[in-house]
Amino acid sequence: MIDLRDLVREDGQHLFAWRREPEVNRWMSDQPPETEAGHFAWIEGLLSDPDRRGWIVTHNGAPAGFLMLSGLTNCNRRAEWGWYIGDPDARGRGVGRAAQALGLDKAFDGLGLEKIWAEVFADNEAALKAHATAGFRREGYLRAHALKDGVFRDVVLVAILTEEWRARREAVRKSLAGSNLIAA
Ligand SMILES: CC(C)(COP(=O)(O)OP(=O)(O)OC[C@H]1O[C@@H](n2cnc3c(N)ncnc32)[C@H](O)[C@@H]1OP(=O)(O)O)[C@@H](O)C(=O)NCCC(=O)NCCS
Repeated sequence: MIDLRDLVREDGQHLFAWRREPEVNRWMSDQPPETEAGHFAWIEGLLSDPDRRGWIVTHNGAPAGFLMLSGLTNCNRRAEWGWYIGDPDARGRGVGRAAQALGLDKAFDGLGLEKIWAEVFADNEAALKAHATAGFRREGYLRAHALKDGVFRDVVLVAILTEEWRARREAVRKSLAGSNLIAA
């Protein structure tokens, strides 16, 4: 079963390892903090920042990934979505899709947001497919938008509105529950 729980300080060690994992880092537009001290300062900043909120994705109770919303204090009731499944054994098995459904419930029902958006590297098939399955729509194609490891990368802008998730939610949750990924 997949679940989301609030990020706590003690999760810092998981995040430090996951964020450096090449299969995660290659899809992130920014670089991780260089030192462990820098990383823990980033966690402290996140935990005390009303503009951002982080959750740990758990897989049968074990930490497997991270989901963050940023921009929560802006006046437009929209937030940016960022996520990864850090545990390599958990990737490609529906954990991301399940975490996404739980995260969208938190964003729309829990936090009362209107819109969630994400920037995804144009060749990140897994992320683009997962977002499309939940009902995210493509809103833009941003050429040479991110400089990653010395290469300018194209980025796809995707977003979902609260009513679009409401229309999709039951079908998505039913399919995830049928695969024993979330509780029915
Ligand atoms: C993107 C990510 C969160 C998706 O989570 P996941 O648990 O691996 O994905 P799921 O098993 O839930 O599958 C989601 C979709 O991606 C597809 N998919 C999974 N792995 C894939 C791969 N390696 N290549 C292409 N498609 C893939 C699945 O078939 C599924 O498609 P569907 O929704 O049309 O059925 C995860 O792969 C990840 O953390 N990747 C590295 C970091 C990253 O890319 N983060 C997002 C940055 S925008």
